[in-house]
Amino acid sequence: MLKDKTILLGVSGGIAAYKAVELLRLYVKAGAAVHVIMTKGACEFVTPLTFQTLSGHPVHTELFNLMQEMEIGHIALADRADLVVVAPATANVIGKLAGGIADDLLTTTLMATKAPVLLVPAMNVNMYENPIYRRNEQSLRDCGYHILDPICGFLACGWEGKGKLPDPAVIVEESRRLLAPQDFAGESLLVTAGPTREELDPVRFLSNHSSGKMGYAIARAARLRGAQVVLVSGPTALPVPCGVERVDVVSARDMETAVLGRFAAATVVIKAAAVADYRPAERAGEKIKKNGQGGMVLELEQNPDILRRLGEVKERQLLVGFAAETADLLGNARRKLEEKGLDLIVANDVTMPGAGFDSDTNIVRLLYRDGRMEELPQLDKDEVAWQLIDRIVALRRGVIPSR
Ligand code: PMT
Repeated sequence: MLKDKTILLGVSGGIAAYKAVELLRLYVKAGAAVHVIMTKGACEFVTPLTFQTLSGHPVHTELFNLMQEMEIGHIALADRADLVVVAPATANVIGKLAGGIADDLLTTTLMATKAPVLLVPAMNVNMYENPIYRRNEQSLRDCGYHILDPICGFLACGWEGKGKLPDPAVIVEESRRLLAPQDFAGESLLVTAGPTREELDPVRFLSNHSSGKMGYAIARAARLRGAQVVLVSGPTALPVPCGVERVDVVSARDMETAVLGRFAAATVVIKAAAVADYRPAERAGEKIKKNGQGGMVLELEQNPDILRRLGEVKERQLLVGFAAETADLLGNARRKLEEKGLDLIVANDVTMPGAGFDSDTNIVRLLYRDGRMEELPQLDKDEVAWQLIDRIVALRRGVIPSR
């Protein structure tokens, strides 16, 4: 999303200006070309040389500077940008922009650009709550500016409250969202991820190797493309993707309750979770002890098949399942597609290197109801997720027939 994009990064004069250095580094790492404009105040906190060195481009500070205008004029900066990000955006910059004042290079460029603008305010909590600031922020929102709210915490000024610049990684993710096609907007996606755990006793459980990476990648891609996303997740070590509502579950029965309770509100469901088909018939209240007689037999009972149940009760929802197979990939996947009433199934042979559990990549085949099959090469799970959403958008628009 950021590769080969041109980002104009405006840095204004707050203590959080030092975090803009890390932000710049992340944009460059993601493949973006970054041009930096600093206000006079920003130059008091961090030197332009730091941004110049890391961006590989001259830093712009003056509106009326003959040399800087010759190299690349401020209108060219405004025109060239795919996205303009101001981080930190002080109350002063927000106030000037809301009042139509363009008296320095940053505010002039902001007035001149046609690119989407993301403002990331950071300031003292009392300034942030000041009604004049609130009015200015609202009027910018009304004009179509994007604003990423500050977070709560200890502020450099000694106060505690809302006013801290969000983590640079969160700003980068929001930038990706603003540059992504919003072709999944209007959809409510319910996606499941990770393993389930079926407890044997207070210290042991039956589970599988799912890391959650595949389902989390889908949640993230869908959110970047505009969907509302609820992620029902078994136990994983992964952070919640930005803007996604995560519901934590442990067992298959927990997952069933969470999924069925949210099904009516969903327009699309993708079940990437590796749900345990069986659970111990009894959960021991105390840690099971060795019985001193060698072996031990565990009695298991069947868990509900959540996806099959969704297939039975679905109304308008588009249902997508995954099939994790170790033999007869296509035969087993096609049977699951039919038996569970799915619109699409993503089949992965989990014995292949680079596919399936815990890997950063996957190798999948997409099986449709009309009998078609599509084979994707080995791709990062983020890319598999992206391509899967492409296909779902096409199914929803009728570009790919669903029956
Ligand atoms: O999490 P990762 O480490 O990234 O690994 C990704 C993955 C291998 C887990 C993922 O790509 C995958 O294949 N997920 C589905 C795993 C699975 O449980 O497959 P299955 O063939 O047993 O189940 C078929 C479908 O029915 C799945 O969509 C599953 O979520 C669903 N199911 C299964 C059993 C059950 N009791 N209820 C269900 O809803």
